[in-house]
Amino acid sequence: MFVCICNALNDRTVNELVASGAATTPAAIHRAAGCKPQCGRCLPDMAEMIAEHRTANAFAQAAD
Ligand code: FES
Repeated sequence: MFVCICNALNDRTVNELVASGAATTPAAIHRAAGCKPQCGRCLPDMAEMIAEHRTANAFAQAAD
């Protein structure tokens, strides 16, 4: 599924960048992918994916 249609970034790529720690903001995701935001429609979805990743990490750390 494409997250950013303007730059053809799919959810797999975005999740990999977020999980690797290479990107902690939507702008950083674009930078890490070698592109720039254009229309901006993907920014809320990317922010949500980052938040979900942080929540999952917090739960994982709490379980340790
Ligand atoms: S959908 Fe990402 S900049 Fe347009």
